[in-house]
Amino acid sequence: MTPVIEAEVEQKLKRPALPEGDPCTLVIFGASGDLTRRKLIPALYDLCGAGCMNARFEVVGTGRTPMTDEQFRESMHEAAKSSKDARNFSEEKWAKFAKRLRYIVGDPASSGFYSDLRSFLEEMQRNGSSPNLLFYVSTPASFAGEIVSGLQSAALNQREQGWSRIILEKPFGRDLGSARALNESVLKVFDEANVYRIDHYLGKETVQNILVFRFANSIFEPVWNRNYVEYVEITAAETLGVERRAAFYEETGALRDMVANHLLQLTALTAMEPPVAFDADSVREQKVQVFRSIRPMSVEEVAAHTVRGQYGPGRIGDTDVPGYRQEPGVKPDSLAETFAAVRLQVDNWRWAGVPFYVRTGKRLATNVTEIKVHFKRTPQALFAGSDTGKFGPNVVSLRIQPDEGISVAFGAKRPGTHMSTVPVKANFSYADAFGGNTPVAYETLILDAMRGDATLFTRRDEVESEWKIITPIEEAWAQLPAPGFPNYAAGSEGPADAVRLLEPDGHRWMSMLRQEPNDAD
Ligand code: BG6
Repeated sequence: MTPVIEAEVEQKLKRPALPEGDPCTLVIFGASGDLTRRKLIPALYDLCGAGCMNARFEVVGTGRTPMTDEQFRESMHEAAKSSKDARNFSEEKWAKFAKRLRYIVGDPASSGFYSDLRSFLEEMQRNGSSPNLLFYVSTPASFAGEIVSGLQSAALNQREQGWSRIILEKPFGRDLGSARALNESVLKVFDEANVYRIDHYLGKETVQNILVFRFANSIFEPVWNRNYVEYVEITAAETLGVERRAAFYEETGALRDMVANHLLQLTALTAMEPPVAFDADSVREQKVQVFRSIRPMSVEEVAAHTVRGQYGPGRIGDTDVPGYRQEPGVKPDSLAETFAAVRLQVDNWRWAGVPFYVRTGKRLATNVTEIKVHFKRTPQALFAGSDTGKFGPNVVSLRIQPDEGISVAFGAKRPGTHMSTVPVKANFSYADAFGGNTPVAYETLILDAMRGDATLFTRRDEVESEWKIITPIEEAWAQLPAPGFPNYAAGSEGPADAVRLLEPDGHRWMSMLRQEPNDAD
Protein backbone atom coordinates (compact mmCIF):
# COMPACT_ATOMS: atom_id res chain seq x y z
CA MET A 1 0.00 0.00 0.00
CA THR A 2 1.38 3.44 -0.83
CA PRO A 3 1.72 5.88 2.07
CA VAL A 4 -1.06 8.06 0.59
CA ILE A 5 -3.57 5.25 0.49
CA GLU A 6 -2.53 4.11 3.96
CA ALA A 7 -3.16 7.60 5.27
CA GLU A 8 -6.60 7.69 3.64
CA VAL A 9 -7.54 4.36 5.17
CA GLU A 10 -6.29 5.60 8.51
CA GLN A 11 -8.44 8.72 8.31
CA LYS A 12 -11.50 6.64 7.50
CA LEU A 13 -10.78 4.34 10.41
CA LYS A 14 -10.49 7.25 12.78
CA ARG A 15 -13.78 8.85 11.84
CA PRO A 16 -16.56 6.32 12.45
CA ALA A 17 -19.69 7.67 10.76
CA LEU A 18 -22.70 7.34 13.02
CA PRO A 19 -26.13 7.18 11.42
CA GLU A 20 -28.89 9.65 12.31
CA GLY A 21 -31.61 8.57 14.72
CA ASP A 22 -35.31 8.78 13.80
CA PRO A 23 -37.11 11.92 14.95
CA CYS A 24 -38.63 11.21 18.38
CA THR A 25 -39.29 12.39 21.91
CA LEU A 26 -37.35 10.47 24.54
CA VAL A 27 -39.24 10.35 27.85
CA ILE A 28 -37.00 9.47 30.80
CA PHE A 29 -38.56 8.04 33.96
CA GLY A 30 -36.19 8.67 36.85
CA ALA A 31 -34.74 11.83 35.34
CA SER A 32 -33.21 13.07 38.59
CA GLY A 33 -31.52 9.72 39.22
CA ASP A 34 -27.89 8.76 39.06
CA LEU A 35 -28.04 6.97 35.72
CA THR A 36 -29.64 9.90 33.93
CA ARG A 37 -27.01 12.27 35.21
CA ARG A 38 -23.97 10.03 34.80
CA LYS A 39 -24.78 8.23 31.57
CA LEU A 40 -27.90 9.23 29.67
CA ILE A 41 -27.56 13.00 29.44
CA PRO A 42 -23.81 12.92 28.60
CA ALA A 43 -24.56 10.33 25.88
CA LEU A 44 -27.42 12.38 24.41
CA TYR A 45 -25.34 15.55 24.53
CA ASP A 46 -22.54 13.77 22.66
CA LEU A 47 -24.89 12.34 20.04
CA CYS A 48 -26.30 15.81 19.39
CA GLY A 49 -22.79 17.24 19.16
CA ALA A 50 -21.85 14.51 16.66
CA GLY A 51 -24.81 15.49 14.47
CA CYS A 52 -26.63 12.17 15.01
CA MET A 53 -29.87 13.64 16.29
CA ASN A 54 -32.68 14.62 14.01
CA ALA A 55 -33.81 18.23 14.35
CA ARG A 56 -37.05 16.84 15.82
CA PHE A 57 -35.35 14.97 18.67
CA GLU A 58 -36.39 16.10 22.15
CA VAL A 59 -36.01 14.86 25.72
CA VAL A 60 -38.69 14.98 28.42
CA GLY A 61 -37.43 14.25 31.93
CA THR A 62 -39.96 13.05 34.51
CA GLY A 63 -39.52 12.55 38.23
CA ARG A 64 -40.99 13.26 41.64
CA THR A 65 -38.75 16.26 42.32
CA PRO A 66 -40.61 19.43 41.29
CA MET A 67 -38.50 21.38 38.76
CA THR A 68 -39.03 23.85 35.96
CA ASP A 69 -37.54 23.17 32.52
CA GLU A 70 -34.83 25.69 33.38
CA GLN A 71 -33.95 24.01 36.68
CA PHE A 72 -33.83 20.62 34.97
CA ARG A 73 -31.51 21.99 32.28
CA GLU A 74 -29.32 23.57 34.93
CA SER A 75 -28.96 20.34 36.91
CA MET A 76 -28.22 18.35 33.74
CA HIS A 77 -25.69 20.99 32.68
CA GLU A 78 -23.70 20.31 35.85
CA ALA A 79 -23.94 16.58 35.25
CA ALA A 80 -22.75 16.74 31.64
CA LYS A 81 -19.98 19.18 32.37
CA SER A 82 -18.46 16.98 35.05
CA SER A 83 -18.94 13.71 33.15
CA LYS A 84 -15.98 12.10 31.42
CA ASP A 85 -18.44 10.64 28.91
CA ALA A 86 -19.41 14.06 27.49
CA ARG A 87 -16.37 14.52 25.27
CA ASN A 88 -15.15 17.96 24.26
CA PHE A 89 -17.77 19.70 26.40
CA SER A 90 -18.45 23.22 25.19
CA GLU A 91 -20.94 25.78 26.50
CA GLU A 92 -21.96 26.61 22.97
CA LYS A 93 -22.88 23.02 22.13
CA TRP A 94 -24.58 22.64 25.49
CA ALA A 95 -26.76 25.70 24.85
CA LYS A 96 -27.99 24.13 21.60
CA PHE A 97 -28.61 20.79 23.26
CA ALA A 98 -30.33 22.28 26.33
CA LYS A 99 -33.10 23.72 24.14
CA ARG A 100 -34.21 20.16 23.47
CA LEU A 101 -34.73 19.37 27.19
CA ARG A 102 -38.13 19.62 28.92
CA TYR A 103 -39.34 18.42 32.34
CA ILE A 104 -42.63 17.29 33.82
CA VAL A 105 -43.03 16.50 37.51
CA GLY A 106 -44.93 13.36 38.44
CA ASP A 107 -44.97 10.20 40.50
CA PRO A 108 -44.66 7.13 38.28
CA ALA A 109 -46.65 5.19 40.87
CA SER A 110 -49.69 7.49 40.53
CA SER A 111 -52.15 6.65 37.75
CA GLY A 112 -53.13 10.35 37.42
CA PHE A 113 -49.64 11.19 36.22
CA TYR A 114 -50.00 9.37 32.91
CA SER A 115 -52.89 11.46 31.64
CA ASP A 116 -50.86 14.60 32.53
CA LEU A 117 -47.95 13.15 30.59
CA ARG A 118 -50.17 12.42 27.64
CA SER A 119 -51.51 16.01 27.58
CA PHE A 120 -47.95 17.33 27.85
CA LEU A 121 -46.79 15.22 24.89
CA GLU A 122 -49.89 16.12 22.82
CA GLU A 123 -49.18 19.78 23.42
CA MET A 124 -45.59 19.28 22.25
CA GLN A 125 -46.83 17.51 19.15
CA ARG A 126 -49.19 20.34 18.32
CA ASN A 127 -46.12 22.56 18.40
CA GLY A 128 -44.27 20.41 15.89
CA SER A 129 -42.67 17.61 17.97
CA SER A 130 -42.42 14.13 16.53
CA PRO A 131 -45.22 11.62 17.25
CA ASN A 132 -42.59 8.90 17.83
CA LEU A 133 -42.15 8.14 21.53
CA LEU A 134 -39.22 6.37 23.17
CA PHE A 135 -39.72 5.70 26.89
CA TYR A 136 -36.63 5.10 29.02
CA VAL A 137 -37.31 3.40 32.36
CA SER A 138 -34.35 4.34 34.49
CA THR A 139 -36.15 4.08 37.84
CA PRO A 140 -35.53 1.22 40.30
CA ALA A 141 -36.67 -2.00 38.62
CA SER A 142 -39.66 -2.36 40.96
CA PHE A 143 -41.40 0.58 39.23
CA ALA A 144 -41.20 -0.89 35.74
CA GLY A 145 -44.51 -2.80 35.95
CA GLU A 146 -46.42 0.27 37.15
CA ILE A 147 -44.89 2.49 34.48
CA VAL A 148 -45.81 0.10 31.72
CA SER A 149 -49.43 -0.18 32.83
CA GLY A 150 -49.59 3.59 33.35
CA LEU A 151 -48.46 4.09 29.74
CA GLN A 152 -51.15 1.68 28.60
CA SER A 153 -53.84 3.45 30.64
CA ALA A 154 -53.00 6.69 28.80
CA ALA A 155 -52.73 4.85 25.45
CA LEU A 156 -49.13 5.98 25.11
CA ASN A 157 -47.99 2.47 24.14
CA GLN A 158 -49.51 2.77 20.68
CA ARG A 159 -49.42 5.58 18.15
CA GLU A 160 -51.79 6.34 15.34
CA GLN A 161 -48.86 7.82 13.50
CA GLY A 162 -45.28 6.86 14.25
CA TRP A 163 -44.06 4.40 16.86
CA SER A 164 -43.85 3.87 20.62
CA ARG A 165 -40.94 1.92 22.10
CA ILE A 166 -39.69 1.26 25.60
CA ILE A 167 -36.15 0.84 26.95
CA LEU A 168 -35.91 -1.06 30.24
CA GLU A 169 -32.80 -0.80 32.39
CA LYS A 170 -31.29 -3.73 34.20
CA PRO A 171 -31.74 -5.49 36.56
CA PHE A 172 -34.68 -7.00 34.71
CA GLY A 173 -36.40 -8.62 37.70
CA ARG A 174 -34.46 -10.12 40.62
CA ASP A 175 -34.98 -13.82 39.88
CA LEU A 176 -36.62 -16.06 37.34
CA GLY A 177 -40.14 -15.61 38.77
CA SER A 178 -40.05 -11.82 38.88
CA ALA A 179 -38.42 -11.58 35.43
CA ARG A 180 -41.18 -13.76 33.98
CA ALA A 181 -43.89 -11.70 35.68
CA LEU A 182 -42.33 -8.46 34.44
CA ASN A 183 -42.01 -9.81 30.91
CA GLU A 184 -45.64 -10.81 30.97
CA SER A 185 -46.83 -7.40 32.09
CA VAL A 186 -44.58 -5.58 29.60
CA LEU A 187 -45.58 -7.80 26.70
CA LYS A 188 -49.29 -7.25 27.38
CA VAL A 189 -48.64 -3.61 26.60
CA PHE A 190 -45.77 -3.53 24.07
CA ASP A 191 -44.86 -6.00 21.32
CA GLU A 192 -41.50 -7.69 21.83
CA ALA A 193 -40.20 -5.79 18.79
CA ASN A 194 -40.76 -2.51 20.66
CA VAL A 195 -39.13 -3.62 23.93
CA TYR A 196 -35.43 -2.78 24.34
CA ARG A 197 -33.94 -4.45 27.45
CA ILE A 198 -30.64 -2.75 27.95
CA ASP A 199 -27.39 -4.37 29.04
CA HIS A 200 -24.94 -1.56 28.47
CA TYR A 201 -22.01 -3.97 28.07
CA LEU A 202 -23.43 -4.92 24.68
CA GLY A 203 -23.00 -1.32 23.55
CA LYS A 204 -19.28 -1.28 24.30
CA GLU A 205 -17.23 -1.25 21.11
CA THR A 206 -14.87 -3.96 22.29
CA VAL A 207 -17.74 -6.23 23.30
CA GLN A 208 -19.16 -5.96 19.79
CA ASN A 209 -15.68 -6.58 18.49
CA ILE A 210 -15.69 -10.06 20.05
CA LEU A 211 -18.02 -11.17 17.27
CA VAL A 212 -15.94 -9.50 14.58
CA PHE A 213 -12.75 -11.00 15.95
CA ARG A 214 -14.28 -14.47 15.98
CA PHE A 215 -16.40 -14.44 12.85
CA ALA A 216 -14.69 -12.06 10.43
CA ASN A 217 -11.31 -13.80 10.70
CA SER A 218 -10.66 -17.35 9.68
CA ILE A 219 -7.59 -18.00 11.81
CA PHE A 220 -9.15 -18.09 15.29
CA GLU A 221 -12.40 -19.94 14.82
CA PRO A 222 -10.87 -23.37 13.99
CA VAL A 223 -9.11 -23.41 17.37
CA TRP A 224 -11.96 -21.85 19.35
CA ASN A 225 -13.24 -25.07 20.94
CA ARG A 226 -12.57 -27.84 23.44
CA ASN A 227 -9.83 -29.41 21.28
CA TYR A 228 -7.57 -26.38 21.72
CA VAL A 229 -8.92 -24.31 24.58
CA GLU A 230 -8.00 -25.29 28.14
CA TYR A 231 -10.14 -22.74 29.97
CA VAL A 232 -11.61 -19.27 29.73
CA GLU A 233 -11.51 -16.61 32.44
CA ILE A 234 -13.61 -13.46 32.46
CA THR A 235 -12.91 -10.68 34.95
CA ALA A 236 -14.79 -7.45 35.59
CA ALA A 237 -12.96 -5.71 38.43
CA GLU A 238 -13.71 -2.25 39.80
CA THR A 239 -11.89 -0.11 42.34
CA LEU A 240 -15.10 1.79 43.09
CA GLY A 241 -17.15 0.88 46.14
CA VAL A 242 -20.94 1.12 46.27
CA GLU A 243 -20.84 4.94 46.10
CA ARG A 244 -24.34 6.35 46.64
CA ARG A 245 -26.08 3.10 45.74
CA ALA A 246 -26.08 1.26 49.09
CA ALA A 247 -29.87 0.79 49.14
CA PHE A 248 -29.81 -0.78 45.67
CA TYR A 249 -26.73 -2.83 46.36
CA GLU A 250 -27.99 -4.23 49.67
CA GLU A 251 -30.90 -5.74 47.74
CA THR A 252 -28.92 -6.75 44.69
CA GLY A 253 -25.34 -7.88 45.38
CA ALA A 254 -22.62 -8.58 42.82
CA LEU A 255 -24.16 -11.75 41.39
CA ARG A 256 -27.39 -10.04 40.33
CA ASP A 257 -25.75 -6.72 39.51
CA MET A 258 -22.97 -7.97 37.24
CA VAL A 259 -22.94 -11.74 36.69
CA ALA A 260 -26.64 -12.18 35.83
CA ASN A 261 -26.25 -9.84 32.86
CA HIS A 262 -22.86 -8.35 31.87
CA LEU A 263 -20.69 -11.39 32.61
CA LEU A 264 -23.16 -13.89 31.18
CA GLN A 265 -23.36 -11.78 28.03
CA LEU A 266 -19.57 -11.81 27.71
CA THR A 267 -19.64 -15.59 28.22
CA ALA A 268 -22.28 -15.98 25.53
CA LEU A 269 -20.42 -13.87 22.98
CA THR A 270 -17.22 -15.82 23.64
CA ALA A 271 -18.90 -19.22 23.46
CA MET A 272 -21.72 -18.84 20.89
CA GLU A 273 -21.90 -20.49 17.50
CA PRO A 274 -21.77 -18.24 14.41
CA PRO A 275 -25.18 -16.67 13.77
CA VAL A 276 -26.71 -17.08 10.29
CA ALA A 277 -26.74 -13.28 9.92
CA PHE A 278 -25.78 -10.26 11.97
CA ASP A 279 -29.33 -9.30 12.87
CA ALA A 280 -31.20 -9.10 16.15
CA ASP A 281 -32.86 -12.50 16.14
CA SER A 282 -30.00 -14.51 14.67
CA VAL A 283 -27.49 -13.19 17.20
CA ARG A 284 -29.86 -13.52 20.15
CA GLU A 285 -30.84 -17.04 19.11
CA GLN A 286 -27.23 -18.18 19.41
CA LYS A 287 -26.71 -16.47 22.75
CA VAL A 288 -29.79 -18.20 24.16
CA GLN A 289 -28.35 -21.55 23.05
CA VAL A 290 -25.27 -20.87 25.18
CA PHE A 291 -27.38 -20.00 28.22
CA ARG A 292 -29.42 -23.15 27.72
CA SER A 293 -26.20 -25.19 27.68
CA ILE A 294 -25.17 -23.90 31.10
CA ARG A 295 -26.91 -26.32 33.43
CA PRO A 296 -28.45 -24.88 36.62
CA MET A 297 -26.42 -25.99 39.66
CA SER A 298 -27.52 -28.07 42.66
CA VAL A 299 -26.83 -26.77 46.18
CA GLU A 300 -23.73 -29.02 46.38
CA GLU A 301 -22.46 -27.72 43.05
CA VAL A 302 -23.02 -24.15 44.14
CA ALA A 303 -20.98 -24.84 47.29
CA ALA A 304 -18.13 -26.24 45.17
CA HIS A 305 -18.24 -23.95 42.13
CA THR A 306 -19.04 -20.47 43.44
CA VAL A 307 -17.40 -17.99 45.80
CA ARG A 308 -18.90 -14.87 47.31
CA GLY A 309 -17.02 -12.12 49.03
CA GLN A 310 -17.44 -8.80 50.75
CA TYR A 311 -14.75 -6.17 51.14
CA GLY A 312 -13.41 -5.04 54.46
CA PRO A 313 -11.43 -1.84 55.03
CA GLY A 314 -8.30 -1.41 52.94
CA ARG A 315 -6.37 0.90 50.66
CA ILE A 316 -7.11 1.95 47.09
CA GLY A 317 -4.07 3.72 45.68
CA ASP A 318 -3.02 6.17 48.38
CA THR A 319 -6.38 6.32 50.10
CA ASP A 320 -7.66 4.36 53.08
CA VAL A 321 -11.22 3.24 52.40
CA PRO A 322 -13.84 1.79 54.73
CA GLY A 323 -15.22 -1.73 54.51
CA TYR A 324 -18.59 -2.37 52.88
CA ARG A 325 -20.33 -2.71 56.26
CA GLN A 326 -19.06 0.73 57.24
CA GLU A 327 -20.46 2.41 54.10
CA PRO A 328 -23.43 4.77 54.73
CA GLY A 329 -26.74 2.96 54.29
CA VAL A 330 -25.28 -0.55 54.70
CA LYS A 331 -26.39 -2.82 57.56
CA PRO A 332 -23.52 -3.50 60.03
CA ASP A 333 -24.06 -7.26 59.61
CA SER A 334 -24.89 -7.15 55.89
CA LEU A 335 -24.50 -10.36 53.93
CA ALA A 336 -24.67 -8.67 50.52
CA GLU A 337 -21.82 -9.92 48.36
CA THR A 338 -19.58 -7.35 46.71
CA PHE A 339 -17.58 -10.06 44.94
CA ALA A 340 -18.73 -13.17 43.10
CA ALA A 341 -16.84 -15.86 41.22
CA VAL A 342 -18.52 -18.74 39.43
CA ARG A 343 -17.20 -21.74 37.52
CA LEU A 344 -19.58 -22.23 34.62
CA GLN A 345 -19.74 -25.33 32.48
CA VAL A 346 -21.01 -24.71 28.95
CA ASP A 347 -22.29 -28.19 28.30
CA ASN A 348 -22.40 -28.40 24.53
CA TRP A 349 -20.49 -30.04 21.68
CA ARG A 350 -17.99 -27.20 21.28
CA TRP A 351 -17.18 -26.57 24.94
CA ALA A 352 -17.70 -29.86 26.84
CA GLY A 353 -15.05 -30.06 29.56
CA VAL A 354 -13.80 -26.46 29.19
CA PRO A 355 -14.51 -24.42 32.34
CA PHE A 356 -15.50 -20.76 32.03
CA TYR A 357 -14.55 -18.92 35.22
CA VAL A 358 -16.15 -15.53 35.75
CA ARG A 359 -15.42 -13.11 38.58
CA THR A 360 -16.43 -9.58 39.46
CA GLY A 361 -16.10 -7.34 42.45
CA LYS A 362 -16.12 -3.87 43.92
CA ARG A 363 -13.11 -2.28 45.62
CA LEU A 364 -10.63 -4.56 43.91
CA ALA A 365 -7.01 -3.78 43.11
CA THR A 366 -7.69 -2.25 39.70
CA ASN A 367 -10.28 -1.45 37.05
CA VAL A 368 -10.24 -4.03 34.33
CA THR A 369 -12.71 -6.01 32.24
CA GLU A 370 -11.13 -8.74 30.21
CA ILE A 371 -11.73 -12.14 28.66
CA LYS A 372 -8.75 -14.48 28.55
CA VAL A 373 -8.88 -17.61 26.46
CA HIS A 374 -6.15 -20.02 27.57
CA PHE A 375 -5.04 -22.53 24.98
CA LYS A 376 -3.71 -25.98 25.72
CA ARG A 377 0.03 -26.53 25.92
CA THR A 378 1.78 -28.13 22.96
CA PRO A 379 1.64 -31.94 23.06
CA GLN A 380 5.42 -32.21 23.30
CA ALA A 381 7.63 -30.03 25.52
CA LEU A 382 10.29 -29.64 22.83
CA PHE A 383 12.09 -26.80 24.52
CA ALA A 384 11.70 -28.04 28.07
CA GLY A 385 15.50 -28.22 28.53
CA SER A 386 15.84 -24.42 28.28
CA ASP A 387 14.09 -21.93 30.56
CA THR A 388 11.19 -22.14 28.22
CA GLY A 389 9.17 -24.60 30.20
CA LYS A 390 8.35 -21.57 32.35
CA PHE A 391 6.25 -19.65 29.88
CA GLY A 392 2.58 -20.29 29.97
CA PRO A 393 0.39 -21.54 27.18
CA ASN A 394 -0.94 -19.26 24.47
CA VAL A 395 -3.54 -16.80 25.71
CA VAL A 396 -5.82 -14.60 23.65
CA SER A 397 -6.88 -11.58 25.70
CA LEU A 398 -9.90 -9.57 24.69
CA ARG A 399 -9.61 -6.40 26.69
CA ILE A 400 -12.93 -4.62 27.11
CA GLN A 401 -11.66 -1.76 29.28
CA PRO A 402 -9.49 0.20 29.88
CA ASP A 403 -6.84 0.23 27.09
CA GLU A 404 -9.30 -1.56 24.81
CA GLY A 405 -7.66 -4.07 22.54
CA ILE A 406 -6.78 -7.65 21.76
CA SER A 407 -3.52 -9.44 22.38
CA VAL A 408 -2.17 -12.87 21.57
CA ALA A 409 0.59 -14.27 23.76
CA PHE A 410 3.05 -16.79 22.41
CA GLY A 411 6.59 -18.01 22.92
CA ALA A 412 9.58 -16.66 20.95
CA LYS A 413 13.27 -17.48 20.86
CA ARG A 414 15.47 -15.10 22.77
CA PRO A 415 18.29 -13.96 20.44
CA GLY A 416 21.58 -15.69 21.11
CA THR A 417 23.35 -18.98 20.74
CA HIS A 418 21.61 -20.51 23.71
CA MET A 419 18.11 -21.94 23.03
CA SER A 420 15.96 -19.93 25.33
CA THR A 421 12.34 -18.98 24.75
CA VAL A 422 10.42 -16.10 26.25
CA PRO A 423 6.78 -15.12 26.21
CA VAL A 424 5.94 -12.19 23.91
CA LYS A 425 2.72 -10.51 22.94
CA ALA A 426 1.21 -9.35 19.64
CA ASN A 427 -0.95 -6.42 20.53
CA PHE A 428 -3.81 -4.57 18.84
CA SER A 429 -4.79 -1.35 20.60
CA TYR A 430 -8.03 0.45 19.79
CA ALA A 431 -6.55 3.79 20.74
CA ASP A 432 -3.54 3.35 18.44
CA ALA A 433 -5.61 2.12 15.50
CA PHE A 434 -8.64 4.36 15.80
CA GLY A 435 -7.53 7.30 17.89
CA GLY A 436 -9.54 6.19 20.93
CA ASN A 437 -12.52 8.26 19.86
CA THR A 438 -15.15 5.53 19.99
CA PRO A 439 -18.74 6.19 21.08
CA VAL A 440 -19.57 5.17 24.65
CA ALA A 441 -22.00 2.30 25.18
CA TYR A 442 -25.09 4.39 25.94
CA GLU A 443 -24.65 6.43 22.76
CA THR A 444 -24.62 3.32 20.60
CA LEU A 445 -27.58 1.78 22.38
CA ILE A 446 -29.85 4.84 22.49
CA LEU A 447 -29.17 5.49 18.83
CA ASP A 448 -29.96 1.87 17.97
CA ALA A 449 -33.25 2.02 19.87
CA MET A 450 -34.16 5.24 18.03
CA ARG A 451 -33.44 3.48 14.74
CA GLY A 452 -35.36 0.32 15.69
CA ASP A 453 -32.33 -2.00 15.77
CA ALA A 454 -32.56 -4.46 18.68
CA THR A 455 -29.43 -6.53 17.91
CA LEU A 456 -27.60 -5.22 20.97
CA PHE A 457 -30.55 -5.57 23.35
CA THR A 458 -31.65 -8.69 25.19
CA ARG A 459 -34.72 -10.68 24.22
CA ARG A 460 -37.30 -12.09 26.62
CA ASP A 461 -36.05 -15.69 26.47
CA GLU A 462 -32.47 -14.51 26.84
CA VAL A 463 -33.18 -12.67 30.08
CA GLU A 464 -35.17 -15.57 31.46
CA SER A 465 -32.47 -18.09 30.60
CA GLU A 466 -29.90 -15.88 32.34
CA TRP A 467 -32.04 -16.03 35.49
CA LYS A 468 -32.36 -19.82 35.17
CA ILE A 469 -28.60 -19.97 35.76
CA ILE A 470 -28.46 -17.33 38.50
CA THR A 471 -31.57 -18.05 40.58
CA PRO A 472 -30.40 -21.53 41.77
CA ILE A 473 -27.14 -19.93 42.93
CA GLU A 474 -28.99 -17.25 44.90
CA GLU A 475 -31.28 -19.91 46.41
CA ALA A 476 -28.38 -22.19 47.34
CA TRP A 477 -26.51 -19.27 48.94
CA ALA A 478 -29.55 -18.62 51.11
CA GLN A 479 -29.48 -22.27 52.31
CA LEU A 480 -25.73 -22.69 52.74
CA PRO A 481 -24.00 -21.54 55.97
CA ALA A 482 -23.60 -17.75 56.07
CA PRO A 483 -20.18 -16.70 54.77
CA GLY A 484 -17.62 -15.13 57.10
CA PHE A 485 -17.73 -11.57 55.76
CA PRO A 486 -15.71 -9.47 55.24
CA ASN A 487 -13.33 -11.87 53.50
CA TYR A 488 -11.18 -9.61 51.35
CA ALA A 489 -9.49 -6.31 51.92
CA ALA A 490 -10.40 -3.33 49.75
CA GLY A 491 -7.62 -2.93 47.19
CA SER A 492 -6.84 -6.68 46.97
CA GLU A 493 -7.63 -9.13 44.15
CA GLY A 494 -10.58 -10.64 46.06
CA PRO A 495 -11.06 -13.50 48.53
CA ALA A 496 -8.52 -16.34 48.76
CA ASP A 497 -11.36 -18.78 48.09
CA ALA A 498 -11.63 -17.42 44.54
CA VAL A 499 -8.12 -18.72 43.88
CA ARG A 500 -9.06 -22.09 45.37
CA LEU A 501 -12.07 -22.29 43.05
CA LEU A 502 -9.75 -23.06 40.12
CA GLU A 503 -7.32 -25.35 41.92
CA PRO A 504 -9.15 -28.67 41.46
CA ASP A 505 -8.85 -28.11 37.69
CA GLY A 506 -5.16 -27.18 37.93
CA HIS A 507 -5.90 -23.66 36.62
CA ARG A 508 -5.11 -20.17 37.84
CA TRP A 509 -6.52 -16.69 37.37
CA MET A 510 -4.12 -14.31 35.72
CA SER A 511 -3.28 -11.42 37.96
CA MET A 512 -5.58 -8.44 37.48
CA LEU A 513 -2.60 -6.16 37.86
CA ARG A 514 0.15 -7.50 35.67
CA GLN A 515 -0.80 -8.06 32.08
CA GLU A 516 2.26 -9.88 30.80
CA PRO A 517 1.75 -13.05 28.78
CA ASN A 518 3.19 -15.34 31.43
CA ASP A 519 1.50 -13.73 34.41
CA ALA A 520 0.16 -17.04 35.53
CA ASP A 521 3.59 -18.53 35.90
C1 BG6 B 1 -23.62 -1.48 36.19
C2 BG6 B 1 -23.61 -1.94 37.62
O1 BG6 B 1 -24.54 -2.23 35.44
O2 BG6 B 1 -22.33 -1.65 35.62
C3 BG6 B 1 -22.57 -1.17 38.41
O3 BG6 B 1 -24.90 -1.74 38.18
C4 BG6 B 1 -21.22 -1.26 37.75
O4 BG6 B 1 -22.50 -1.67 39.75
C5 BG6 B 1 -21.33 -0.89 36.28
O5 BG6 B 1 -20.36 -0.35 38.42
C6 BG6 B 1 -20.02 -1.14 35.56
O6 BG6 B 1 -20.12 -0.62 34.28
P1 BG6 B 1 -18.83 -0.11 33.50
O7 BG6 B 1 -19.35 0.30 32.17
O8 BG6 B 1 -18.27 1.01 34.31
O9 BG6 B 1 -17.93 -1.29 33.45
